[in-house]
Amino acid sequence: MTFASNILDSIGNTPLQELRNIDTGPCRLFAKLEYHNPGGSIKDRIALSMVQTAERDGLIQPGGTLIEATAGNTGLGLALVAAQKGYKLLIVIPDKMSQEKVFHLQAMGAEVLMTRSDVVKGHPEYYQDYAARIAQETPNAFYVNQFANPANVQAHVEGTGPEIWQQMEHNIDAFVCGVGTGGTLTGVGSYLKKMSEKTQVILADPEGSVLADYVNEGVMREAGSWQVEGIGEDFIPDICDLSLVDRAYSISDQLSFATGRELLAREGIFVGSSSGTILAAALHYCRSQTECKRVVAIIPDSGNKYISKMYNDHWMLDQGFIERKHYGDLRDLISRLHRKHETVVATPDETLIAAQTRMKMHDISQLPVLQDDHICGIIDESDILLAVNDHPEHFRDPVSKYMTKKLDVVVHTAPIKQLLQTFAKDHVAIVMHGDEFLGIITRSDLLNYLRRKIS
Ligand SMILES: Cc1ncc(COP(=O)(O)O)c(C=O)c1O
Repeated sequence: MTFASNILDSIGNTPLQELRNIDTGPCRLFAKLEYHNPGGSIKDRIALSMVQTAERDGLIQPGGTLIEATAGNTGLGLALVAAQKGYKLLIVIPDKMSQEKVFHLQAMGAEVLMTRSDVVKGHPEYYQDYAARIAQETPNAFYVNQFANPANVQAHVEGTGPEIWQQMEHNIDAFVCGVGTGGTLTGVGSYLKKMSEKTQVILADPEGSVLADYVNEGVMREAGSWQVEGIGEDFIPDICDLSLVDRAYSISDQLSFATGRELLAREGIFVGSSSGTILAAALHYCRSQTECKRVVAIIPDSGNKYISKMYNDHWMLDQGFIERKHYGDLRDLISRLHRKHETVVATPDETLIAAQTRMKMHDISQLPVLQDDHICGIIDESDILLAVNDHPEHFRDPVSKYMTKKLDVVVHTAPIKQLLQTFAKDHVAIVMHGDEFLGIITRSDLLNYLRRKIS
């Protein structure tokens, strides 16, 4: 029998997979699938290493508290390690982080402390300064601090690097990764360069991050913003050795998301947004070669945390990451076209409870009501509230009884300013083409449309 006797024994030894269905030019490209770690990401490795090192150095005693400032994968890795080793874990995060991330951390046993997201480094309530201060004030506490902790790098020198070296049978031309803390780049990069003179380190950096320009041109530009998560920086982390990098590629959010989606479609590998950036850089590198190079790209985590973003066509359209068909009329503002079966609707005979459940599920506050594909009303949360306020039993009544039948209809060729009259009444616009219902336009659809115009 071969089995692990503790979940922590399953950290590391992740698979390496060659990509055969994507155009890699003359090269062979291999993906190191780090989402196979039990906590779902590459960060399990450093969580274990940083805690074991703190134990070895006497920085934490049994029953002590680990403290870290992160809403990301490191928090989940630490939660896994803390639970198995009997430590408490306190995670400090800025209050803009998604509920999903908070629930995930709490479900794994972490205590989550929220702090302000509108303050910068140096402010006492900035999440990293806050975590460091609590660690000082709490007895038997250890501030993990992945950005400055050498055990982060060491996890990759002892684990990730040697694994890749073995799996590639001591023959690797290039290693491609991103930088969050720089642990992966510094650890794997230094190990591979020590083992093999020819191995190049390629940095994949999101557009807006300062690192790629620093590597390629030696200049420190002002940071912009990007939506890819986990990589890219507005400073150079303490443990990050950028002198190891031979070449850096700056990759747009749009290309990162598209590449991640392509990897799923072509290879069946379901990856997170940073993997899209890394793979896009790896493909640039591969396609610019004139002879066969053996290239490894890191896949830090899986796509399941990003389903409602990069894998959601509506989000991608709203953000302008997917090109939509251009009509030159109000159809350009409709986020869900009825003709494409995208609208979420109610029927007149279903109950209020069914309609409200659907609104909650899709995170919307109104539904067009359709009978035989013809619009006959609209029902929103206020209609339902008025119906059930004194009579909760009305939840079982049909939608037709409480829906608004007087509709604010606009033809698809109407000017945009006509929408403002509708919104001023707190209504949504019902867009029609003759008899045909095309979709609805809300205030936020108009805002998204205007924002797409500037980008
Ligand atoms: C999703 C994801 N990708 C990549 C990284 C970068 O790894 P490192 O911190 O080793 O630079 C991180 C780190 O936060 C991450 O969460």
